[in-house]
Amino acid sequence: MLPSKLHALFCLCTCLALVYPFDWQVLNPVAHIESSAWVSKIQALMGAANIGQTKIPRGNGFYSVGCTDLMFDYTKKGTFLRFYYPSQDDHHSDTIWIPNKEYFLGLSKFLGTHWLMGKIMSLFFGSVTTPAAWNAPLRTGEKYPLIIFSHGLGALRTIYSAIGIDLASHGFIVAAVEHRDGSASSTYYFKDQSAVEIGNKSWLYFRTLKRGEEAFPFRNKQLRQRAKECSQALSLILDIDHGRPVTNVLDLEFDVEQLKDSIDRDKIAVMGHSFGGATVIQTLSEDQRFRCGIALDAWMLPVGDEVCSRIPQPLFFINSEHFQNPSNILRMKKCFLPDRKRKMITIRGSVHQNFVDFTFATGKIIGHLFTLKGDIDSNVAISLSNKASLAFLQKHLGLEKDFDQWDSLIEGEDDHLIPGTNIDTTNTKPLCRTPEE
Ligand SMILES: *[C@@H]1O[C@H](CO)[C@@H](O)[C@H](O)[C@H]1NC(C)=O
Repeated sequence: MLPSKLHALFCLCTCLALVYPFDWQVLNPVAHIESSAWVSKIQALMGAANIGQTKIPRGNGFYSVGCTDLMFDYTKKGTFLRFYYPSQDDHHSDTIWIPNKEYFLGLSKFLGTHWLMGKIMSLFFGSVTTPAAWNAPLRTGEKYPLIIFSHGLGALRTIYSAIGIDLASHGFIVAAVEHRDGSASSTYYFKDQSAVEIGNKSWLYFRTLKRGEEAFPFRNKQLRQRAKECSQALSLILDIDHGRPVTNVLDLEFDVEQLKDSIDRDKIAVMGHSFGGATVIQTLSEDQRFRCGIALDAWMLPVGDEVCSRIPQPLFFINSEHFQNPSNILRMKKCFLPDRKRKMITIRGSVHQNFVDFTFATGKIIGHLFTLKGDIDSNVAISLSNKASLAFLQKHLGLEKDFDQWDSLIEGEDDHLIPGTNIDTTNTKPLCRTPEE
């Protein structure tokens, strides 16, 4: 896919971009890492240049998987989604993974690096694909349960495809929202129809915390917007399912009308990673149409103290071993109230990035160096997370599938899993809000 002599640069750019975006424990890595440290990292990367690139895995389920984007309608108040869905076997090409160079420019802004870094990243990542048939027709004749997915800080709708594709291959329609709250690496909209006609995209870039600005009010406001965007996405999809004519602003080959009568309307869940995990919790508390939620390595800082008490729906925390800390875990534990269905497992040897496609985009040494990979094999980690999720979804959406074969994973019964958490919270004071990361 890439010329091999460029591989070192490819890896370098990948990692420079990704060492920060999802690591909430570092406010500004560029300021924190001495230039000499960068030089030695770069040297290490060059030394590891011949490590082969790995691939985003195919779904393990029975269905072929298609992928498309939907934007409706104009302005930033509209909805922007990437769909993964069961598709008809069809000769459509694989999906471009990160489809616009501006996402890389957003990542470079997020990093605090020169925009040139974004250009270089876009050069090397721009043609990477993920194994879903772009705009393939929907497989008809069945109603599918629906999952709304929420991305993490500095991320975008497209980089959780290993999860979206696997769930779609097991018969779900997955709609990954791109948030317009300033937490995406970047995102775009069209002002009106004339902007669409001349292809004039309006880009919204990642918004950093201003000097002296308090983290909680800012993040909590973003969180509320994110939850609204999840609910709005659900309303739109249910409207389409009911037959409302919706014209995709992006004018793609996939005919949105195919989604009419395709959704199993009371089998709806919300799922997300990191900031998206917090979004799962906020969304469940506000919108009862979501019957259960799965929070992947949730970052709890943005969640208000009272929110957990307002969630009657079942909630599943799947954590990595190396991201969590006591105060974050204590906030999760507030959701564990009597008579509520709550589960928590931790994937042994995993890191925060194990839930994001980037864990598959680099070789072993590079992945370890920049904590895109943990000690656990990335394929094993994502497969455990997906199987545990499927078992949980079957139980709480009332599906008639065979995902209950993985029920023991919900309890953390596997050599690679820890039931509950690896974090000891006994000496941690509750309610102390740490300064942001
Ligand atoms: C594109 O849209 C922006 C606002 O989003 C506007 O300021 C600009 O003039 C537009 N460009 C053209 C060529 O119409």
